[in-house]
Formats: sequence, structure tokens, C-alpha cells
Amino acid sequence: MATHTGGLTATVPETGTAAVRISGLVRAFGERRVLDGLDLSLRAGEFVAMLGRSGSGKSTLLRALAGLDHDAGGEGELSAPDHVSVVFQDARLLPWKRVLANVTLGLSGADAQERARTALAEVGLAGREDAWPVELSGGEQQRVSLARSLVREPQLLLADEPFGALDALTRARMHTLLARLYERHRPAVLLVTHDVDEAIALADRVVVLDGGHIAADLPVDLAAPRRPGTPEYAVLRERLLVRLGVEVPSG
Ligand SMILES: Nc1ncnc2c1ncn2[C@@H]1O[C@H](COP(=O)(O)OP(=O)(O)OP(=O)(O)O)[C@@H](O)[C@H]1O
Ligand SMILES: [Mg+2]
Repeated sequence: MATHTGGLTATVPETGTAAVRISGLVRAFGERRVLDGLDLSLRAGEFVAMLGRSGSGKSTLLRALAGLDHDAGGEGELSAPDHVSVVFQDARLLPWKRVLANVTLGLSGADAQERARTALAEVGLAGREDAWPVELSGGEQQRVSLARSLVREPQLLLADEPFGALDALTRARMHTLLARLYERHRPAVLLVTHDVDEAIALADRVVVLDGGHIAADLPVDLAAPRRPGTPEYAVLRERLLVRLGVEVPSG
């Protein structure tokens, strides 16, 4: 387990089963406390989706977990695994490197190329290893980004609205792909999304960030396949929308 300091108290979880443990986390920019005493734990292999209004601090929390928030002041306790990968809304590929080189970037070992090829095949991009990023569609670029994250076999995958920029059909395909990759690799996942249906479709638990802390934490106890239309789905969806401050028409 790595611990992040810099205003934070470093801790190591006692049990081997927690992938993430956050307690009393404060992150502030100047006087503004964006995260204000936030508590959250993820078990190893658990898939948690996070919803929250724009500006509620979701990306700030992910940056803290990734150890990328050196510009924020903070306190509290936070522990995360040693191997963390991050996927952002934009794929952030290096345009001057071919697809395969984008995936092997920073990988070591004699089998790095082979592992990268396997990862690209897993996301449906076998045969595109020598393409330039600019030659790929947005969805394909995001699949390269997923391959780049998963080839590192992270214990924790942080995803910040990874499908937010994609059209609805591509997004639905990416849901299926992510669910399959998750089943195969089983990292703990913290997925930030604005899409309540995406959260319910993919996650074991959905949390809502509001007022600087976790304002709701609901398990997704729905039988697969989780399709809108069942009463249980509708109840959970409405509870989440209400927590997000969305007025749900009655009737
Ligand atoms: N480096 C920074 N300097 C100053 N303020 C910042 C910085 N980063 C974030 N903030 C502020 O912290 C608040 C939370 O930002 P954050 O990006 O975490 O929100 P978010 O929940 O991810 O929003 P969105 O859904 O729009 O992506 C915002 O008000 C933002 O302006
Ligand atoms: Mg954000």
C-alpha cells in the first residue's frame, strides 16, 4: 500500500482486503474546502460508481487518490494500493507515438510488447498496433487508453468520466467492454460519471458526493441483466436522482 502525504497523515490499512481507505479527507483551494471530512472505503475488487454535481469535488478526490494533487492543501488519512491506473475523459495518447508504443509507455520487462498486444486485442484493437492516435476514432482512442491502464494490472482503476465524450451507442459498447475487462482483471474501480444509468449498470455500489463528503452510499442489489423498467431499478434510480437534487416527477 502506498500512502500519500503532503498535509495528509500516512496510514497503512490493517486488513488486506481494503483497496482504498479514506478518512476525514480535506482538500482545499485557498479558503475553499472542496472535500470536507470525506470518508470512503473500497474493498479489493469492488466496483464503485461516484455521482455528484459539477464542481462537487469528484476529480479532486480522484487526483488525491492518484497522488496527483500537489496544488491542493489537505488533511486526513488516505491509503491506496501501489498499482493505480487512471483513465480520463480524453484518452491523452501521445500523438507522436503509434498505438502500441502508447500502450508500452513506461512498461518494463522483455514481454512488454507482447503484453501490450494482448491488451490491445482485449479491447478489440488487434491489428491497429501501428496506427497513429489521430487515425483512431474517439471511442477507439479511449479503448487504447483502457488497454494502457489494464496492461499494468492495477489494483485500483480510477476512471474520471471515461465515456462522457462518446456518443450513446459507443458508450453502450464501452460499458459492455469495461464490464468484461473488470470481470477478467478484477481491480477495484472508482468510476466517476454523470450518468445514473451507467452507474447502476456497472457498479456494485453507487456513492453521491455532495457538500464535500459522501452524502449517499447505496448498494446495487439488482439481478443481472440490470435493465431499466423493473420496479427495483426505478426505485434506485429515483433515490439517486433525488440525492443529486434532480426533481423527479411523481406518478
Ligand atoms: N487547481 C485548482 N485550483 C483552484 N480550484 C480548483 C482546482 N481544482 C479544482 N478546483 C475547484 O474545486 C472544485 C471541485 O472541482 P472538481 O474538478 O473536483 O469538480 P468535479 O466534481 O470533478 O466537477 P465536474 O463534474 O464538472 O468534472 C471546483 O469548484 C473547482 O473550481
Ligand atoms: Mg471532474
